Parts: sequence; C-alpha cells; structure tokens
Amino acid sequence: MKEEKRAELRKKVFEAYMQKTPRSRQLYDRACQSLLGGVSGGGRFYDPYPTYMTHGRGSKTYDVDGNEYIDCRGSAGPLLLGHCHPEVMEAVKRELDRGLLLQNPELVVECAELLQEIVPCAEKVRFINTGSEAMLAVVRIARGHTRKNKIIKFYGHYHGQDDQFLVATSNMKPEPTSAGVPAEHLANVVLLKYNDIDAVRRKLDEDKDIAAVVLDPQMNMGGIWPPSVEYMQELRKLTQERGVVLVFDEVITGFRMALGGAQEYYGVVPDLAVYAKGLAAGGKLAAIAGKEAVMNAVGGGPLARQKAVFQSGTYNDCTEGLAAAIATMKVLKKLNQQGEYRRFHGRCARLKAGVEQAFRQRGIGVTMNNGFGFLRLWLTDLPPSFETYCAIEQPLLYPFLLSLLPEGVFIFPTIANFILSFAHTDEDIEAIINAVGSSLDRYYFKEAW
Ligand SMILES: Cc1ncc(COP(=O)(O)O)c(C=O)c1O
Repeated sequence: MKEEKRAELRKKVFEAYMQKTPRSRQLYDRACQSLLGGVSGGGRFYDPYPTYMTHGRGSKTYDVDGNEYIDCRGSAGPLLLGHCHPEVMEAVKRELDRGLLLQNPELVVECAELLQEIVPCAEKVRFINTGSEAMLAVVRIARGHTRKNKIIKFYGHYHGQDDQFLVATSNMKPEPTSAGVPAEHLANVVLLKYNDIDAVRRKLDEDKDIAAVVLDPQMNMGGIWPPSVEYMQELRKLTQERGVVLVFDEVITGFRMALGGAQEYYGVVPDLAVYAKGLAAGGKLAAIAGKEAVMNAVGGGPLARQKAVFQSGTYNDCTEGLAAAIATMKVLKKLNQQGEYRRFHGRCARLKAGVEQAFRQRGIGVTMNNGFGFLRLWLTDLPPSFETYCAIEQPLLYPFLLSLLPEGVFIFPTIANFILSFAHTDEDIEAIINAVGSSLDRYYFKEAW
C-alpha cells in the first residue's frame, strides 16, 4: 500500500516538473548527443533530466523555459553574494579589458594583501584555480615541510577530486567513493571519526609518519556536523605539540561562517588553509594561505632551492578570478562592518525553524542541520548523528526536493542542501518555507511515509 502511494507520489512530482520544463527536456536530449550525460559534471544530473539555466540576478535564477526560481543551489556554494553582484560584475568587466591572462598581474598582489588581512593564518598566500587543486597542493606542502607521508582525513569530509581524498567522503565506509582510484593512492590516508579527539590523540601518538590532519570544519559533505570549540582547540594543541600540520579546508566555510571563516569563528588558527567557492563569488579562483614557516617549503622565486615543493599552474592568476575575488572581499568586508553577517545567519536560522515546523505540523520527522547558509535536510525521526544519518534510507527525500522546483525553489534533488547567500531576503526565506508547506500538501507526503 505504502509502495503504491510512493510510486503515485513520485509520478505526480515528475509530471509537474516535466510540465514546467519542456525546453530543458529538449536541451537535455540535444546535450546528450555531445556532452557526456548531458552535463559537465556528475553532480549536475538529476532525474528525469536537469534544468538548464539562462541567467541569474540576486537571489533568483531563470531557466530556458522562462521560469523564475529562488536559487537555493548557489552553483554549489560560490554565489555567496548571489548572482551578478554589481560591484563584482563591474570589476570583472573593467579588468578583463586588460587581458585574460597576464604574467605576474598587478592584481595578484592586491588580492593576496586582502586575503592576508582577512584570514588569520595567511602569513603567505598562493593562488590556484579550484578547491581540488588547492587541497592537492597543501597536502604536498605539508609533506614537504614535515618530510612525512601520511594524512589524517575524517569520515564524511570531502576535499575535492584528487584520488587520495576520494574515500569515505559522505559516509563511514572506508572505501573509494569513485571507480578508478587505485588502492595504493589511499595507502597514506588514515581515516578517523570526526569529533573524536581521543582517536586523533591515539593515532598521533602511535604513528610517527603523520604529516597533516586535514578537515572541512563543518563536515559539509557528510551532512553538516560541526565540532565544538574545545575539539578544535584540542586538535590545534595536539598537532602543534607534535609538529603535525593542521589544514583547514575552508572551501565552503571560508567567508561564510564569518568573514575570516572557521578560523575566526572557532578562534583556532591552522597552519594551512584552502579557499575557493566564496572567495570570488562565482569567479574562478582558489587560494592557499598559511604560516610562513610551512609555506616556505614551496620553491620558486627567491626561495628556489633543491628538494623544494613544486607548486605552480598556467592559470593560477587569471584576470577574471582575481578581479572577482578582490571585489568580493571588499564587498564582504563592508557587509561585515554593517552587521550583515549576523542578519545572514539569522535568516539561515529562520529557514531551519520554518522548514522543520512545516514538516512537524504535518506529522513528518525532520532535522535540518544549519551550517551558515548550507542547510542539510534529513527526513527521519531518528536522533541526529552523522553515524546514524549517513546510513539511513530516505525514499521520499528525492521526490520532495524535486517537487520544490515547480514551486519556484531551485535546488538539486540529488543533495538535500539549501544554500543561501547574502542576496536572499527575509521574503525569500518565507517564500521557501511556504513552498515547502504547499509541496507537502499538494502531494500528500504523509500518506506515503
Ligand atoms: C570542502 C570542499 N573542499 C574541496 C572542494 C573541491 O573544490 P572544487 O570543486 O573547486 O575543486 C569542495 C567542492 O565542493 C568542497 O566542498
């Protein structure tokens, strides 16, 4: 009976989505002739076909059928200022006139100075293209600095595309999360449970070949399970005492948890940190920032010497990314001075409360983990914990998330993240909460529970 209800619900949701998006369907069919799977990245596909976008403005995004959505995808997080922030767009247009790619562009210095001002650990900075590349580089720097090999990585933490990080990225399974990752690429990766300081202490005491401990402070991929301040402080103390490099992957938390990211929020300064996404508000740029003593492991320029760490890249200082990052950091500094971080975090808390209330009023179990503009929805009555939640089935989650699109809320139904930006208004938050309620009523989710 329940299965029948679920199949009926799924059918209704898919029909509503397809009715609203016929041009996306056509474009998907065309795209599949040339583009693998019709998309430019695995995460961009969802059933029955993805929505294709034409443009965005502020908190809104528009698809090829002319539908307007409140954008709760934020292009996976970079759009911390929403779409087309005027100061960022103007800076990019202006700077592009100088050339797409210059050698040692003047802009790179200003960009590094701003990052140095904002990020507590940023005694020295290098730019790079993506979060994945930056993570690859910092681990190499940590190994070069310590002359040790292993890294401690935590279950549920995602650090991009390098083979050594593609293990247990969203669950407790100590297996590669992708085909094509040779087992030997994971030989130097030690997996530990996050939020368990004794596990880290034991490992550091028994294994003298640990170069670095790497972490995404909020554990975004695993579903947003942030640690306590005490855990972070103790992690800092343990690593410092043993000469192990502490690496914060701030690709998501950077500029979001606070202007100075997780370091500022927790008051804990790592040795190295990585920035991407929010750094350039959609422009393509990532950064490595760190303590000078550790960053000096890198060769090049005045530091050139034998056996130094190699770190370089053709597009590391492209004009568009640098211009976008400079403008973004200036805007974020202003927003911080104006108290807008507090208001932004207040809107995130309101979304969590409103969405949870919408489900509970209708008798449906729910938890929404709120990670400063990354909010993860779980449809279950079970007490919240990463270990429990990463293993549960949520058969109605996908149709529920897809049903939000025809209601005017854009989200990827494959990952239950609601991503907010400074561009989202109080009215947007109320509209999202209303869309959740009307979707639950329209499709009688309770009956299929
Ligand atoms: C915490 C974290 N680290 C690293 C990355 C990789 O960044 P990129 O996709 O820019 O390579 C991501 C991407 O989502 C991320 O969320």
